[in-house]
Amino acid sequence: MAIVLGIDTSCDDTGVGVVEGGRVLANEVESQTALHARFGGVVPEQASREHLSVLDGVVERALRAAGVDLAEIGAVAATRGPGLVGALLVGLSYGKALAWGLGIPFVPVHHLEAHIAAAVSGSGQTPPFLCLIASGGHTSLFVVRDWDAIEQLGRSRDDAAGEAFDKVARLLGLGYPGGPALAALAERGDDRAVPLPVPMRGQQGFDFSFSGLKTAVAVTLEREPDLRPEDVAASFERTVVESLADVTRRAAAHTGLTRVVVAGGVAANRRLRTAIAAAGLEAAFPPPALATDNGAMVALAAERRLAAAAGRQAEALGTDAVPYLPLAAAGTPKAPS
Ligand code: KG4
Ligand code: ZN
Repeated sequence: MAIVLGIDTSCDDTGVGVVEGGRVLANEVESQTALHARFGGVVPEQASREHLSVLDGVVERALRAAGVDLAEIGAVAATRGPGLVGALLVGLSYGKALAWGLGIPFVPVHHLEAHIAAAVSGSGQTPPFLCLIASGGHTSLFVVRDWDAIEQLGRSRDDAAGEAFDKVARLLGLGYPGGPALAALAERGDDRAVPLPVPMRGQQGFDFSFSGLKTAVAVTLEREPDLRPEDVAASFERTVVESLADVTRRAAAHTGLTRVVVAGGVAANRRLRTAIAAAGLEAAFPPPALATDNGAMVALAAERRLAAAAGRQAEALGTDAVPYLPLAAAGTPKAPS
């Protein structure tokens, strides 16, 4: 089994991982959180520049941590989308050039497929199961029937769940990223004090929506400025979690699956963990280092692709970065027949 180096520069973290046979040898992430904090969110052009200046160093660090020489790498993988196009281009171009220079295969990877691969490898789950990814950039629900049969059941039609946490945290004057700060504040609040509409309640499908909820919080705060921030935080958090848990529970009933792997930054939310368990679902949460954006997940997904292609890896150096990329378009690899 070849050693695979994986790169993710889809958003504001520069991630480089080294993986061999499903084992993570190194997983280095350089976070840009501090850089973007003063703007209250990710500034795309800043993110691209930062990736460009740190990527080489992060690759070196990952190789050192893995105790692996560049010459021992058998394949290079990088995220091609979805994400911020300028940020994606940095990792993708670097990855293609490195693979070309070393004369080894290059594997373009779909960011969400990478999340799923990491969530599963970290949790020890095997298909079939449901996978809920809730982060600052995406909120999606998948049914992973098998490795060559991943189907997206639903996704957010607007803001991601983490993005809603960040925006409401900002309304409450908390820092960025707002999720952890808002969750901490919510612990001291009354989660029934502020009535808020649970998004998409009563819908037939499995989509999410969080921008209306954020607006409802903004309007409420404007109308009732004397509300206790901890009550607003607790009520908002309960509403988001109810929505995530509701849709996941209905998806479980629809598919007959009771195991769910939860990944992404929002998976760290304590109330979400409790709600998923209370829904009678058997939940697995990968360790945070694999649940949030990182390079090892890209290498793990690439390993599966290389194994499925069994040496028939197509010429991939022409791959472009794609900011909006549905998972189906990434062409889930078929096992060789
Ligand atoms: O997966 P992630 O680290 O990065 C990307 O989205 O790329 O997710 C970060 C998101 C942020 O929006 C952050 O506010 C949210 O996850 N988050 C949380 C918690 N911890 C992080 N949201 C709710 N509760 C938490 N405890
Ligand atoms: Zn992500």
